[in-house]
Amino acid sequence: MKFDTLIVKGIEAKHNPHKAIIPPIFLATTFVQDGIDEWQDFAYSRSHNPTRDNFEDLFARVEGAKQAFAFASGMAATSSVFSLLKQGDKVLLNNNVYGGTYRYVHGIFANQGIEYELVDDLNVIDEIDDNVKMIFVETPSNPLLRVTDIERIANIAHQKGALVVVDNTFLTPYYQRVLSLGADIVVYSATKYIGGHADVIAGVVATNHEELAERIQFMKNTLGATLSPMDAYALIKGLKTLSVRLDRQAENTHKIIDFLTQHSGVKAVHYAGSYSDHERAIQQKQASGIGAVISLALQDGYDSKIFAKSLELFDLAVSLGGVESLICHPASMTHESYSAELQDKIGITQGLLRLAIGIENAEDLIADLNQALDKAKI
Ligand SMILES: Cc1ncc(COP(=O)(O)O)c(C=O)c1O
Repeated sequence: MKFDTLIVKGIEAKHNPHKAIIPPIFLATTFVQDGIDEWQDFAYSRSHNPTRDNFEDLFARVEGAKQAFAFASGMAATSSVFSLLKQGDKVLLNNNVYGGTYRYVHGIFANQGIEYELVDDLNVIDEIDDNVKMIFVETPSNPLLRVTDIERIANIAHQKGALVVVDNTFLTPYYQRVLSLGADIVVYSATKYIGGHADVIAGVVATNHEELAERIQFMKNTLGATLSPMDAYALIKGLKTLSVRLDRQAENTHKIIDFLTQHSGVKAVHYAGSYSDHERAIQQKQASGIGAVISLALQDGYDSKIFAKSLELFDLAVSLGGVESLICHPASMTHESYSAELQDKIGITQGLLRLAIGIENAEDLIADLNQALDKAKI
């Protein structure tokens, strides 16, 4: 089955006794046993729940993974993956990862005796130290849309037995199949494109390694941040339109990039592959689309606060991946956990704005950007 068919029809008949076209939502916290030592498929919904299992089985098929695990947020998914590490281990991350991921490594690793390093460009490292046990990659990165060569970094990591984890939130399996590029684990904020309607906070981890899957299931059950049945249902529903939504969002994104790059009030437009020819070639090799997140900086003489306030269709809000277009100011919003010095060093400037492009009419979106740019000129 092709991707678009799988997301609609791929749910298995399991846990659906009446063959309902939409599988039922099982809200029960606990399940009756016939007797002591007589185990059923389900016992307690933190560990397994039929609706969550339905989503996990479907998502594993969609991702091309042996197993997928659904969490109560993207950060819960990432935390379960970081829980695989132990004292003395070191993690490399690309330098502009999502602010919450940075908050985790900066705020928690030291207490656990785990080291981390933010690497300016993972594409230029040739080898890693023996204590590096994980390379955590967000590609394209948030908010600068820098691109890392997954296959290359996986080869380097695997020479030393380190794991490669890719946060594929921005592209989803529709555009980028990271496990087939050599990543060991893929993580998602399913709050974004997988849910797709800005109405569910969720995360997913998927892998092809049986031993890692067992450890992640253990973490999921033990840390307890599992996805509720209602939210699992919301993801099953959201996933069905992933390709339709992303096709439209990407089409709008290309039109908006064309508009912004030609506007005299715009100093820079960042999108996956825009940083250099090298990154463009990597992006084209490893993904079939650039997604629908871009960032931009206005020229001197334009006020970004007035610009953001003047937009009528782009709401100022964190998050992305819903059908509505949003604008955000990474320095004060999504990436406020980075110190001012680190923001400066990385390029998360005060003037940087991130756009998450929705499914509205592209002409309306461009007209809105245009009128806000006119008003922002000082
Ligand atoms: C790339 C990326 N990864 C992870 C997360 C965390 O996900 P959540 O907000 O669902 O916990 C986010 C949230 O914005 C994100 O953008």
